[in-house]
Amino acid sequence: IAVDARPAPEQLAEAFRRVRAAGHADEPAVLVHDLDRLRAKLADVAAAFAGPRALHTVAIKANPLVGVLRVAVAAGAGLEAASIEEVHLALRAGCSPDRIVFDSPVKTEAELAEALRMGLRINADNFAEIERIAALHTPACASRIGLRINPELAEAAIALTSVGHRGSRFGVPLSQHSAIVEAFARHRFLTGLHVHIGSQGVTIPELVDGVARVWQLRRELVAVRPVPLDMFDLGGGLPAQYRDDAPRLTPTAYAAALRAAVPDLFRGDVQLVTEFGRSILADCGFVVSRVEVVKPGPVAGLHVGADLFVRRVYRPHEWHHDFLAIGRDGLPLAGDPVATTLAGPLCFGGDVLARDLPLPALAPGDHVLIRDTGAYTLSMWSRYCSRAIPAALGLDGDAVTVLRPRDTIADVVAFWGG
Ligand code: LLP
Repeated sequence: IAVDARPAPEQLAEAFRRVRAAGHADEPAVLVHDLDRLRAKLADVAAAFAGPRALHTVAIKANPLVGVLRVAVAAGAGLEAASIEEVHLALRAGCSPDRIVFDSPVKTEAELAEALRMGLRINADNFAEIERIAALHTPACASRIGLRINPELAEAAIALTSVGHRGSRFGVPLSQHSAIVEAFARHRFLTGLHVHIGSQGVTIPELVDGVARVWQLRRELVAVRPVPLDMFDLGGGLPAQYRDDAPRLTPTAYAAALRAAVPDLFRGDVQLVTEFGRSILADCGFVVSRVEVVKPGPVAGLHVGADLFVRRVYRPHEWHHDFLAIGRDGLPLAGDPVATTLAGPLCFGGDVLARDLPLPALAPGDHVLIRDTGAYTLSMWSRYCSRAIPAALGLDGDAVTVLRPRDTIADVVAFWGG
């Protein structure tokens, strides 16, 4: 499986035909995940960032389907959890506690106690959390603990996913230098540093700059304390390629830039940890919706909208998806493009996935494929209008597996306390 390009439209159409042959094309909408491609993407990251004892985790928040996490764990990945609930998804997926990185920016005392008892890796977000850990930590505890540093870069292109700039609420700002030095001098359990600057809209030089600044801090810390700082977690943040005319930023290119700027990072004094989500998972998934109705315009009514594509609907200038129209014969539709609006099913005027998109004329019963939906799609589902969450499927070798069935009406009623 070639991972140096996005899956081509013909490959997606073929995957759609497999989904249809397995009997799922009659569902209003399904999410499809190419698990073989996921394995290839994971291998690509592991090869690019190879290093002694390196630990490559997948950010669960990008796609918490346990069947997806299981594939990652079986392929040798660890998992990054942004909540205690995600920790339990990681355990269910078979991840051993010492390969789970617990990163939530707001952790309760009970959650910290549980994480320490389980021996998870923990990245503390702030000084107060370090004091809480100090109160709970025992010499027998297997947890490895790092501190998240905000490298205070300039804000990246997409402000809402930019988290490593001056004023960001995540981590301890690099400029609080003396307090950081003091914390590392006092707490011998602190053995790692963590940095994560954003998701989409950052460039490789920005990513490298963030890591380099925190690596420089590490040099200074090593000079003032005897306990080794043997863990360095460089977070995720490598953008995915959502359109053909955008650059494809590969793990290989990022790792090469890092090797040039911070060669010591790869020398084995530290265990290198990565936490990629989007760049691994986005192009492993696509969504299929049946075209239910075509109104004058034309406006095609689909079965997913802002419930599944919250970013796309609310910030269309920042969030792009490509769409592929498939006819009832399972082949990409041909024909002269017509400026088509793709509307979602939710009851508000803004539930529109695309306006005036040039697509061959659609008819009810055709399908629209929404590309690159393997990350931050189902995990950001909104319950507005109480629609059933669609089924999620896996393409695994020759099999089409059900990763989660479509919600039943009973599931929806139960969600609302009925
Ligand atoms: N590590 C930490 C500490 C993070 O906060 C994140 C993502 C990751 C790793 C993974 O980043 P990635 O490689 O996936 O970019 N669709 C969401 C994205 C928010 C990302 C949050 N953090 C949104 O638009 O809000």
